[in-house]
This record gives sequence, structure tokens and C-alpha cells, in this order.
Amino acid sequence: MPFRFFISWPWTEGETEALLRPTPMKVQAMRSLSGKPACTSSRRFSSVSCRATGSGSEGASSYSSRRESMKASINPSGARSRLVAPNAIEARPDVEALEKLVRSEAAPDASPVLICGQVSHSLTKEREEIIHSMEDFMEEKVYKYLKPVEKCWQAQDFLPDPASEDFIPEIQALRERTLALPDDYLVVLVGDMVTEEALPTYMSMLNTIDGTRDETGSDDTVWGKWTREWTAEENRHGDLLNKYLYLSGRVDMRQIEVTIQNLIGSGMCPKTENNPYLGFMYTSFQERATKVSHGNTGRSAAKHGDQALANICAQIASDEARHEKAYQLICEELFRLDPDGMMMAFADMMKKQIVMPAHMMDDGVHTSRGSGAALFEDFEKVAYATETYTTADYIDIIDYLIKRWDVESIKCSSADGQKSQDYVCKLPNRLRRLAERAEKRMKKTANKQEVKFSWVYDRPIFV
Ligand SMILES: [Fe+2]
Ligand SMILES: [Fe+2]
Repeated sequence: MPFRFFISWPWTEGETEALLRPTPMKVQAMRSLSGKPACTSSRRFSSVSCRATGSGSEGASSYSSRRESMKASINPSGARSRLVAPNAIEARPDVEALEKLVRSEAAPDASPVLICGQVSHSLTKEREEIIHSMEDFMEEKVYKYLKPVEKCWQAQDFLPDPASEDFIPEIQALRERTLALPDDYLVVLVGDMVTEEALPTYMSMLNTIDGTRDETGSDDTVWGKWTREWTAEENRHGDLLNKYLYLSGRVDMRQIEVTIQNLIGSGMCPKTENNPYLGFMYTSFQERATKVSHGNTGRSAAKHGDQALANICAQIASDEARHEKAYQLICEELFRLDPDGMMMAFADMMKKQIVMPAHMMDDGVHTSRGSGAALFEDFEKVAYATETYTTADYIDIIDYLIKRWDVESIKCSSADGQKSQDYVCKLPNRLRRLAERAEKRMKKTANKQEVKFSWVYDRPIFV
């Protein structure tokens, strides 16, 4: 389960904005073009994209004709999808400036495509060919990080067997063990479980990626097989945590189920532009974040006396560790094949921040209570307070990835690549300085706040 501290990131909003969102103009321009905030509609803004749906792979040859088409279709009011009279073209916004604003920072050589106000389909033809060239590499080096089904654990291996005479006594033992789990711990565990249960969203997200998507739903390509089998492995995580929490009787399952349904219905917004460079950078980060988080919930369960739950969390964390290795290996290969492209992708995802897939979680009641904060915002605070996943973890992951790919030694030939490399290499120290300052500020004003979660029947938690 992954996180990004975009709400409770413990420094001021201004500092975060200045450091991590260096191009707010770009966001503003995209919003004004689309006329609505990101991710509120599935409608494609063809007047700006000028690209066939889903291909995401046009070369530079047709770029000028697309640009002409773009000129002819941008409405001076900022609205879209309406052709205007030719003599009005000169009075329209500066198309070159507009293009610059909507262009992908990770792939500045890609033609601009906007969907729902987001830069999309930024994979160029050349880079798509690189992705296709990696099929043998995937088969030989990466595929082995998935386990054959017969070697995988299943949820039932860790749960009372309903066919056994000991079923009821085993449930009683489980319920006695979980009585010692405090509410803040339960909230974090529920948040982890809810995130795992939104797996349909993550499979959809992987299948938005150009060059690797499973086109038929049963593609015989290594990318298609990877996505399906990765999803099948992940599916066990939510199953197991859900059943364990259900049997514990400590949490409000109906409210949790409402949260899961809302979350899957809302989707997620990782800002990966249908681009595998960005997508695999995102998953490389997220799988490690997930491993850290499940590892910490396991250690806490052991401290609270539930060794069986500690073992469950450790098993899930070990799956995440395999997935982490696989995605990081893909990125390592991309750094080898296209150092500049991958460096820009790394910097781009860091500037955008790594969004937690469950950032749209909603139980239908949380915001109407207490401070009115969003459910995810309060959940992050509890994760931080219980040290399940903290700002330091977020920064450590960036640091780890820099070392994992030996980013400082990679030779970038373009100015954009070198600039991105410089940005990425300096980022952990910059973030640590900001985090230290923010922590000092928080200590000065530290007043514990009461938060209530419907997941634990509104019992008060202080963070
Ligand atoms: Fe998982
Ligand atoms: Fe995972």
C-alpha cells in the first residue's frame, strides 16, 4: 500500500508548492483548457490532443499537421472542441506557449495530449520501440519475480478452516488476540486493507499504459501476462486482511465495505501520462512503500501480542518485496537503454509526488464530522503518528532508489536529462531539511487532535 503525504506533509503548503510543484502555471493552463478539474470526466479533449484514441505512439512526422489542427481548434475563450473561423486564428492564445505549458516534462519531445486536464499519452514512437524491445528481457529477467500459483500462499493458509472441528475455537482465539489491538493500529490496518481491496483500479491503471497494456484481456505477451499475474498475486492481500479483520469483530465491516466501493468507484490519479517510464517509476516507488508499510504493521502486531497477524503482514510484505524488485529491474533496464528519458521520468514523478492509490477513499460520513477533514487526510495522520509510514520513509525510498539505480553515475547526454539528474540527486537532502524545519514547528504547536473513524465505530483517536 503506497502513500504520498500531499496533505499532511509536515511543512507549509507554500514550501511544498515551491519545491515540489515548480510549474503551477502548467496545471492552471491545463485546467483552463479543460474547463474542469482533473479526473472529473472521461471525455477526451480531442481539440487539444489531436491524436487517435489509445494509440499514444505517433511519431514526429505528423506533428506539424497536428499542431495546425490544434491551432484551428482552440477556442479563444479557453473552451474546447469547437472549430472557429480561420480569420480568428491570429486572435487566439499563443499556441506555442500553450503547447509548452501542456507538454510532458518527462517527455518534452512528445506531442501534447490532454485528457481530463492531464497530460496524457506522452510516450513517443521511439520510446515505444524501446519498450517493445524489452520483451525478451521481461521474459528472462523479470517474470521470475512472480511465483507459480502452486508455490504461492493463499489466504486460507492463515485463517481458521471452516471445515475443521476447531473452526469455532480458532475464531475465539483470534478474537481474543485482536482485543489487544489499539484503535489507531486498527485504523492503519483497515486503511492498508481498503487500499489492497481497490485492486481493480490498479489493474485498470496498468492497462492504460501505452506499449505494455493487455489489449485483449488475455494477451499472450509478456507484458499482458505480467499485469494479470501480478494482479492475481496482489488479490490475495486484500482477501486475507479483509477476512482477518471480519473475524476479529473489532471493526465496522459495513462502513469498510462502503469505503471500498466508493474508492473503486472513484479510481485514482497517479499522473503517469499513460507512459510506461512514469508508470514503472511509480510502481517501483509504490511497491517499496507498500513493503515498508506492511512490514511496520506486522512489527506493531507482534508488539501488541498478535503473532498470527504479524506473520500475515510479513507474508504480504514479502510479496511486495518481490514486486518491488521486478519493477525496479525494469527501470534499471530503461536507465540503460534510455538514460535521459528515464532520468526525466524520475524527476517528473518526484515533482508530482507519488500519490497514494487510496487518496480518494471516502466512507460517506467522515467529512461531516470533527474537523471536516477528508478521510484520507486523517488516515495519513494516524499512519504518521503510529510510525507505520512517515515522511522519513517517503524520503528514504527516494534515497534508496537513487542508490539502487546508481543515479549519480548515469551519463545523461541532454541538458534536460542532466538537469533532471541534478534535481533528483539533491532531492533527499532538500526534503530532509524541510522535514526537520516542519517537525520543529509541529513540536512547538503540538496539540493532539481527536479524530473519529467510522471503521472503528467512532471511538476517539488522538493524533
Ligand atoms: Fe499488495
Ligand atoms: Fe504490491
